[in-house]
Amino acid sequence: MTITVTPITVIPRHPALGAEIRGVDMRRPLDAATVQAVSDAWMKHLVLVFPDQRITDQEHVGFTRHFGEPEIFHQTSLHLRSDRVKEIFLVSNVDDQDRLLAPSAPSQKQLSSSRMWHTDSSYRPTPSIGSLLHGIEISRTGGITQFINMYRVYDDLPDSLRRQVEGRRARHDFSMLHRLVGSPPPTPAEQAAMPPVWHPMVRRHPVTGARSLYVSSIYNDAVEGLDEAAARKLIEDLSEFAAQPQYMYRHVWEPDDVLMWDNRCTVHAVTPHDPGERRVMHRTTIVGTEPVLV
Ligand code: SIN
Repeated sequence: MTITVTPITVIPRHPALGAEIRGVDMRRPLDAATVQAVSDAWMKHLVLVFPDQRITDQEHVGFTRHFGEPEIFHQTSLHLRSDRVKEIFLVSNVDDQDRLLAPSAPSQKQLSSSRMWHTDSSYRPTPSIGSLLHGIEISRTGGITQFINMYRVYDDLPDSLRRQVEGRRARHDFSMLHRLVGSPPPTPAEQAAMPPVWHPMVRRHPVTGARSLYVSSIYNDAVEGLDEAAARKLIEDLSEFAAQPQYMYRHVWEPDDVLMWDNRCTVHAVTPHDPGERRVMHRTTIVGTEPVLV
């Protein structure tokens, strides 16, 4: 009798999404069978938690490359991109020189937008596949990262909302951020590098084939056929419907957790924390390879 040895252990964390992965050491090269097993678990559980990964930024980037090309964040003016490893996006209130930043610092104002539901880099013509976030110094006063399964949200949408999203597109604009939270506007060069894009509000996943709701409240600044106020209300109504406990996994961090999520079928938002407490998190973002499918 043939016994198939699964190279990893998958322990679900919530019925809707989220699973812990045991048996992966991100400091070591991964064989093809393990990469495939992680990919399969990722497609099934949407958010993977890898506990106790004491990795360097280079190892973080190396692990990311098993799943795609890491994005280089286009905006340099706010120093959210690491000077040391250009593929690392700093989701931190500590700068590259290890200084604690006040909430009024431009980078912190911009990061405060991540308390609202969004999916990373949806403002790109080919939006991100997924992201990997390493908790280096974690918060004990908040900073819980919450994820929503947007397949289930789409399946359960009430008719009144479903009618408003089927066959419709929303616009995603990077510069919406500064209008929302009052961070400095992108420079003209940054704006020119990232013009607004239109994406379907319901998308088909290129791997699973399943459909999900695709909205990103920090970037959506317009919806086809609606004026500005009606567009904003629709995005807010959809986000409010989505943010129900049965669709949500809330990740309470431990040091050296690495989370890997699928940006195509989930949204996320972080809870506030005491700004006097250091929170140092490094993220890679996997570049998309195809436009949003319908
Ligand atoms: C993010 O929005 O990518 C960061 C989430 C977090 O700060 O936990």
